[in-house]
Amino acid sequence: MMAGSTLEIKDLHVEIEGLEILKGVNLTIKGGEFHAIMGPNGTGKSTLASAIMGHPKYEVTQGQILLDGEDVLEMEVDERAQAGLFLAMQYPSEVSGVTTSDFLRTAINAHREEGDEIQLMPFIKEMDKTLDFLEIDKNMAQRYLNEGFSGGEKKRNEILQLMMLKPAIAILDEIDSGLDIDALKVVANGINEMRSDSFGCLMITHYQRLLEYITPDHVHVMMQGRVVKSGGPELAQRLEAEGYEWIKEELGIEDETVGNNA
Ligand SMILES: Nc1ncnc2c1ncn2[C@@H]1O[C@H](COP(=O)(O)OP(=O)(O)OP(=O)(O)O)[C@@H](O)[C@H]1O
Ligand SMILES: [Mg+2]
Repeated sequence: MMAGSTLEIKDLHVEIEGLEILKGVNLTIKGGEFHAIMGPNGTGKSTLASAIMGHPKYEVTQGQILLDGEDVLEMEVDERAQAGLFLAMQYPSEVSGVTTSDFLRTAINAHREEGDEIQLMPFIKEMDKTLDFLEIDKNMAQRYLNEGFSGGEKKRNEILQLMMLKPAIAILDEIDSGLDIDALKVVANGINEMRSDSFGCLMITHYQRLLEYITPDHVHVMMQGRVVKSGGPELAQRLEAEGYEWIKEELGIEDETVGNNA
């Protein structure tokens, strides 16, 4: 087994249509580590995820993203996935005409050398096992990816992709939003199942609830397009109990969003 990868984000500045959203994010995620990012709405969390994956709308104007020392910003979107990065988006898109099963098999084979493609039977076996684990109906895999899926079904399907693709570093943007109580446990089990030295994870979440099932090693708070505070699981507990005002007071921040600050 490959040793874990390291994703380093250094002084990252990102603009959308000329407006600066990220204003110097610093964060390092290593294989074996689970990180959580929390923070009020509109503070740049999803922007960070999109910038790491190379969404064309997000322009990096300063700083670096390195995966094991390699410059991620020089890579195309598909190269980033090949290099071992995975993003579960806050709002997964519907892909008409491609079934979940076909999508997964293509994606797995894109990570493999020519001639070393996964064969159909072993693929189906592993997919069925993972579908069972995630309590997803087998018919779902034959439907077009995310098309007409309920909110919770989309989130479960993201974890199916995670478990099948086995990336080195995963960014999960609000993977817990819209899940019912049982589904939250199923999804958390899936993420916990991934825990190993060769897997690092960044979970963006609003609620301590997810973190009751998945204990993060590090918790970060994002405000004004920066990581303004980091700590352990106790930080998430305090946020759940007290909200964000105390951090704003501590740091002398009036408006936590990215719009109105220097
Ligand atoms: N494509 C875009 N075009 C214009 N503005 C954008 C775009 N994407 C993000 N923004 C703006 O950037 C800011 C940060 O957005 P982002 O989605 O990163 O916030 P967030 O921290 O993920 O919030 P939430 O907790 O609500 O998901 C917001 O003010 C948002 O309106
Ligand atoms: Mg978001």
